[in-house]
Amino acid sequence: MKTFFQDKQGNPLLLTGLQSHNSSTGSPMMEQTIRAIREFHGNLLEAPVYWYWLEPEEGVYDTTHVRELIHTAREAGLYLVILWFATNKNGHPNYVPEYVKIRPDIYRLAVEPDGLPVPSMSPHCQATMRADQRAFVELMKCIKEEDEDYGTVLAVQVENEAGLGGTDRDYSDEAQQDFEKPVPAELDGVEIEDSGASLKDNSWRGRFGRYANEAFTAWYQARYIDEIAAAGKQVYNIPMYVNAMLGFPYSEGGMAYNSGGPAVRVLDIWKKAAPSIDLLCPDIYTPARDHYTHFCEAYRREDNALFIPESGFVGTAAALNVIRAAAQYEAVGICCFGAESTLDEEGNLREDVKDTAVSFQMVRNIAPLLVKYHGTGNIHPIIQDEFMAEQLIQLPDYRITAHFDVRRRIPDTRETLPRGRGILVQTGETEFYLTGDNVALDFVSRPGPNEEMPRFWMACRQSNQLNFLTVEEGHFEGDKWVVDFRRNGDETNYELYARKGEVVRIRLNPTMGVKGKVN
Ligand code: DGJ
Repeated sequence: MKTFFQDKQGNPLLLTGLQSHNSSTGSPMMEQTIRAIREFHGNLLEAPVYWYWLEPEEGVYDTTHVRELIHTAREAGLYLVILWFATNKNGHPNYVPEYVKIRPDIYRLAVEPDGLPVPSMSPHCQATMRADQRAFVELMKCIKEEDEDYGTVLAVQVENEAGLGGTDRDYSDEAQQDFEKPVPAELDGVEIEDSGASLKDNSWRGRFGRYANEAFTAWYQARYIDEIAAAGKQVYNIPMYVNAMLGFPYSEGGMAYNSGGPAVRVLDIWKKAAPSIDLLCPDIYTPARDHYTHFCEAYRREDNALFIPESGFVGTAAALNVIRAAAQYEAVGICCFGAESTLDEEGNLREDVKDTAVSFQMVRNIAPLLVKYHGTGNIHPIIQDEFMAEQLIQLPDYRITAHFDVRRRIPDTRETLPRGRGILVQTGETEFYLTGDNVALDFVSRPGPNEEMPRFWMACRQSNQLNFLTVEEGHFEGDKWVVDFRRNGDETNYELYARKGEVVRIRLNPTMGVKGKVN
């Protein structure tokens, strides 16, 4: 599996950016969308295209707004992810063409157990799938024609937070017939934890117990989307993903979130049912740390890199969670939803969004290292969760303490400090890069396990933060480190700090402690 999205030359890309509001495509709002992404130092615009615009009349296709959108992103120097708002937008058919909306006899809605329709298209209806698929193929033809030589469009999201709202499955006669068939052989060996399944037979109930209805819907929803994606890939083969509405951990499909979307519980089913889909992605709106990490852990798998197409942007939790996703869970992309709302009426970043924008800046600034050291264990998140004054980063050779709120100890300093956060990357035995805000590090070399006088090494004059060779502020141009400012004296004697999202390269003295005795 490829981990990262790639540019035209095949270089891996870490994506950061914002998603526009739902109705911004083709409107003047898009200017604000782009402006907001710049404020976030992003490289990615996520924006929808609409089935009903692409196919204003049955069988008549108009790609004007798709082409405009691609040009807008390209002129702004951004990559683009196109969101295909079609059969399913958050479980609803808002974006289907009128000819689909007015013929529920052909393009069927799902129904509840009492036979009443819910406002979600049935994933068992082949007529809707084929109509969506035809339009999607036109979309992919247009992207190929307009963009194959440029590579502005990096990926397509197929549908949006798909699944059924208001019911756990479709109870129509057609769906019931599907429900009575045995579970497909592709799902042999797939189980859902805590389902209580009897495993007595190969029925959906027998195999997935209390989660049978969600599992069943997931299979059919995933097959529906996979058929659309596969046809699109035949035309133009670029990465395609599906995003998930999540609810809260362990909640129920059809209640807290749409049933049948790629939610945590049914990820294995989706992986089997939708081989044309490259990534299953969580839209993580929950600010709570435990919930956020629950979802990051679930979607970052051997067979699924973590890409977060939507998340919140307000306040401290969002600012910390960006670092969690990028450094702790090594996300290959992070986006917030609702770009235009990050700006105030004058078009400036809102106060309550600024810390999140700085976190995005950190990720951008250090992105070449996040790509290079992905999966090596050399990337260390620094996060001042509630009540923390410092954080320990224990490495084989160094004990590094990240101190927060250090400036508050200076009596004259009255400023309110943001929650400390940053990313530390070890790039050599004695070389580290730090980015952060309200973070100060000190490095102590650790004695080796056979050291006869460990106390000497821990306490000796050699073991403190004065033991660096150089401390540089700078930036990356491609993979190349460019020094902007060399710190020394007061700027190094008290702390090795990062205060505004800058990147600092720290070269430690190799003769410190275990790396070489100096006495
Ligand atoms: C999640 C959806 O995927 C977005 O399109 C948008 O509707 C947001 N919710 C609104 O919070």
